[in-house]
Amino acid sequence: MSNFMQAAVLPEFGPATAFRIEKVAIPLPGAGEVLVKVKAIGLNPVDFKTRSGKGYASFQTLPAILGWDIAGEVVSVGEGVSKFITGDRIFGMSNFPNPGNAYAEYAVVQEDEFAIIPKDISFEVAAGTPLAGLTAWEALFDHAGITWGQRVLIQAAAGGVGHIAVQLAKWKHCFVAATASAANHPFLEQLGVDQLVDYKTQKFEEVLDGMDVIIDGMGGETALHSLDILNRGGILVSLPSMYKDDPAVIAKAKEKGVEVKWMSVRPSGERMEQLAALLSNNRLRVEIGQTFPLTDIVKAHQALENGHGRGKIVLTV
Ligand SMILES: NC(=O)c1ccc[n+]([C@@H]2O[C@H](COP(=O)([O-])OP(=O)(O)OC[C@H]3O[C@@H](n4cnc5c(N)ncnc54)[C@H](OP(=O)(O)O)[C@@H]3O)[C@@H](O)[C@H]2O)c1
Repeated sequence: MSNFMQAAVLPEFGPATAFRIEKVAIPLPGAGEVLVKVKAIGLNPVDFKTRSGKGYASFQTLPAILGWDIAGEVVSVGEGVSKFITGDRIFGMSNFPNPGNAYAEYAVVQEDEFAIIPKDISFEVAAGTPLAGLTAWEALFDHAGITWGQRVLIQAAAGGVGHIAVQLAKWKHCFVAATASAANHPFLEQLGVDQLVDYKTQKFEEVLDGMDVIIDGMGGETALHSLDILNRGGILVSLPSMYKDDPAVIAKAKEKGVEVKWMSVRPSGERMEQLAALLSNNRLRVEIGQTFPLTDIVKAHQALENGHGRGKIVLTV
């Protein structure tokens, strides 16, 4: 094996066209780390936000290798690694929000942030799962604490986090309402959504009411109007970090007697094992809307930034 690999390198924060495909040194795993031959990489909105100098840009060092969601094969293990051996197929969200160095042919990852990919699950599906899956899990179970039979609304339900959140809430026997454009309604019906709202032709706050929990992937006006349809004591979990601690939302939540929580997803190998179990017993389907080769990183980021994909966008290596 040569000591060099191809990577999509970001020399400066900027538009999608800022990426350069370059040869860089293959990293070496330290204690508790493994070297992964990357097979597929999941993209998330935080990737393009960071690329443009927002998101978690302050956590990166330029030139940077962006990306956090990795699926691949273990090629060597560092000192003290006991969870994985060479040849294992593994997936996880690497080192978030610090550099994940995912957009490359090889990446070093921490063993405690990764899990084994179930046998019948492809590298593409595995790469699409970590950040969105961990977010949906944390939002619904840790922050909102959903329970059997509650009424749950998922905003931006056709997206990466949304379509997984729909399935996790159905798994817990909740009534699930969802917002998406009409073209995505058949897809969301298949995932078990009970009530669909076309946000392009309907105002969700006029169609829905009596929600116990809302997971909001939009922020701003959507968050504000969401508060109108929450039951007293209900919980809104807000995802877009640019709207964190929005004073208008805080004031309105107080007035309505509801709770608003902002979150930042955390890596977890244990959670990845729980998501793996759901994937392997067909409780969770992760939709791959588009794939691009790593060398088409510019087109992939342009598609990501468009914000209307179904499920996940994945790079193949
Ligand atoms: N705080 C955290 O830890 C955390 C973690 C993950 C994600 N996030 C943030 O959460 C947001 C969602 O992430 P994601 O990965 O799910 O994004 P995504 O996959 O890019 O979401 C795209 C989806 O948004 C839908 N959409 C666009 N405008 C909409 C609207 N007005 N109403 C309803 N749906 C709309 C689109 O549906 P149509 O095609 O039908 O329009 C599309 O399917 C992003 O801002 C992301 O950065 C935060």
